[in-house]
Amino acid sequence: MRIAVLNGPNLNLLGVREPELYGSESLEDIEASVRAKAELRGVEVLWYQTNHEGEFVDLVQGLRGKGQVGGALVNAAGFTHTSIAIRDALLAVQVPFVEVHLSNIFAREPERRVSVLADIAVGIVAGFGGQSYLLAFDALIDHVTSGDR
Ligand code: DQA
Repeated sequence: MRIAVLNGPNLNLLGVREPELYGSESLEDIEASVRAKAELRGVEVLWYQTNHEGEFVDLVQGLRGKGQVGGALVNAAGFTHTSIAIRDALLAVQVPFVEVHLSNIFAREPERRVSVLADIAVGIVAGFGGQSYLLAFDALIDHVTSGDR
């Protein structure tokens, strides 16, 4: 099975960007941890990051063509709170996904407490820094392999 991990804007700056909120790990560090876990679980990882909304939509649409993609982790970053286009793309491809955030978006500014993706996600993991990705990864694989909703 393949799991795609889609990372949105400014996540390429993790490690230097507001470390008190997002931690000191870089996106490459998190990618390495996810890939190590994936190897243990016998899963292939497709890892992406983009700063552009249209490119994010293209990445989501592309999941359909990648035959064996069983699910996705989605940290749409700032687009989480605004992007109906990304929501529409996720609805279109019908790939099960877990919404991931490093910070607890529900304990932050009012505009970040709203996610336009959350209600169509299998679930959300937020607030555990880079560990959010690992928790979400395990949960997604369990969900996909058990066939539950
Ligand atoms: C984030 C939370 C978003 O509100 C913010 O815009 C980000 C990162 C997180 O992982 O905590 O860029 O998605």
